[in-house]
Amino acid sequence: MTFDRPTILMCPPDFYGIEYEINPWMSRSRESDPDLARQQWHALYVLLLSLNADVRLMTPVKGLPDLVFTANAALIHESTAYLSRFRHPARQGETPLNEEWLTTQGFDCVTLPEGMDFEGAGDALFVKDTLFAGYLIRSDAAAMQWVAGEIGCRVIPLQLVDERYYHLDTCFCPLSETDAIIYPPAFDEYGQKALEAHIESALIVQDDEAARFACNAVVLGEHVVLNTGCPQLESDLRDRGYEPHATPLDEFIKAGGSAKCLTLRLDGEDSATWRAG
Ligand code: ARG
Repeated sequence: MTFDRPTILMCPPDFYGIEYEINPWMSRSRESDPDLARQQWHALYVLLLSLNADVRLMTPVKGLPDLVFTANAALIHESTAYLSRFRHPARQGETPLNEEWLTTQGFDCVTLPEGMDFEGAGDALFVKDTLFAGYLIRSDAAAMQWVAGEIGCRVIPLQLVDERYYHLDTCFCPLSETDAIIYPPAFDEYGQKALEAHIESALIVQDDEAARFACNAVVLGEHVVLNTGCPQLESDLRDRGYEPHATPLDEFIKAGGSAKCLTLRLDGEDSATWRAG
């Protein structure tokens, strides 16, 4: 498959809401405002278009409020999509829709063996040819080994230890083949050491900005799109030659997600060596 520019999947928030609680950010007593959610989602969409992304849309479905978080649809590697097997039954209905959409777009969809939970690009991110894989809270370590075995790549398993940072993309964001945004307390000691050993240049996030989902950024070359309220990270990014673009996403933080969770890179993350274009 060939892409002539960064290509991203999003899903409009028509049926988004807090209908169940599967992570510590979600509380049914803290509903999201549908109009504000729509506005914030639309601002992100327009911002990504303005940065030259090709944004493709899935049709939202009533009863699947988290379908907006397309990062969890699958892990994309070249023209193969490794479909998620969601840990929580509340999200399992998303998989057939993701499979249908990705197949229509020309991806070969692969289903992991039964019993292996796997939440796609929420937990698996490429840096060069290596798959950085978050496990324990949502995805199984065995699932990550299985996917890396199919791809034939090296995998670095990273155990996630803080329920608030339940997906890898809430505490780790590769920016390039050498740079990454990291919130170390979300990882066990071994994971922190592995990140130190394998990431040449880390931008470390502090507690308050981690809780603003600083690590959950969308990277388009030197452009980094993230939630508002992360001034320290914005300044660190500028110092390294990146251009941060902050846009409010508080309505989605109520579900435990931000910019990156709302997107799935179909042509490969910028940090991945195999990516097209
Ligand atoms: N409410 C969703 C869940 O808990 C949020 C998913 C966020 N996605 C992500 N890639 N971190 O599953």
